[in-house]
Amino acid sequence: MDAVALVPAAGRGVRLGAGVPKALVRVRGRSLLSRAVRGLLDSGSVSRVVVAAPADQLGPMTREVHEFGDRVHVVPGGGERTDSVRAALEAADRLVSSLGTVLVHDAARAFTPARVIRDVVAAVEHGACAVVPTLPVADTVKRIDSEGVVAETVDRSLLRTVQTPQGFTAEVLREAYGAAEDAATDDAGLVERMGYPVRTVEGDTHALKVTSSFDLAVAEAVLAAEPTSAAELSAARPDVPVRPPEEADSGRNGDVS
Ligand code: CTP
Ligand code: MG
Repeated sequence: MDAVALVPAAGRGVRLGAGVPKALVRVRGRSLLSRAVRGLLDSGSVSRVVVAAPADQLGPMTREVHEFGDRVHVVPGGGERTDSVRAALEAADRLVSSLGTVLVHDAARAFTPARVIRDVVAAVEHGACAVVPTLPVADTVKRIDSEGVVAETVDRSLLRTVQTPQGFTAEVLREAYGAAEDAATDDAGLVERMGYPVRTVEGDTHALKVTSSFDLAVAEAVLAAEPTSAAELSAARPDVPVRPPEEADSGRNGDVS
């Protein structure tokens, strides 16, 4: 059974400071929201997407995903990311008669390769109730005291940074969100609190979260180094006629793989 993806996109993007919600920021002509949704649908493992948008941006965000038709629904998000995911989960439960595997994927991780999405879905389908993509920590990690003095150098061999999409069985995600009283930094954190095991699959540096203008510059540079698809050219240069996106883009996950 294909997964349903919830895409929290209701943040304001304060740290990016683009003057518009981060999900509407364009990279080489295409918004982060459009890229994130396209990546999910093109992975082949996701059949429907529910986007949580800022309540005052439903129109612009709906336009960004119009090309994907009725596979994508846009609902109002909330004040915290947790509220946005909860709103999207409730909407998904109304839209789909029996939810199976549910992904939660930040619109800000717009360049996540299809392999990561497929691995997360496959791990849930093979019996895990919660799955997160992770990367090893590249830097040396130190714990400091309240004065800013190093207290210890932490063994980083078992430390991981965590990305999205995170995958869950619908029952476990519902239970975690039903019990959540405060905001968690990630969805798996809520599931951990319930005592369920959270499995890991290999993440990818391309699944970076666009937080600052530096991250946006990195994404621009990575895309510039990739072969440009016809759809990309079309979005960036509307004056240049190109083939239709479905012909030009078939089987691709965004532009980074
Ligand atoms: N998000 C959301 N609802 C909120 C806050 C965040 O749906 N109330 C989403 C963001 O749109 C983003 C993801 O959660 O896709 C991760 O959040 P973050 O990177 O912090 O994005 P913003 O909150 O938009 O950025 P900032 O914190 O700089 O304002
Ligand atoms: Mg935020």
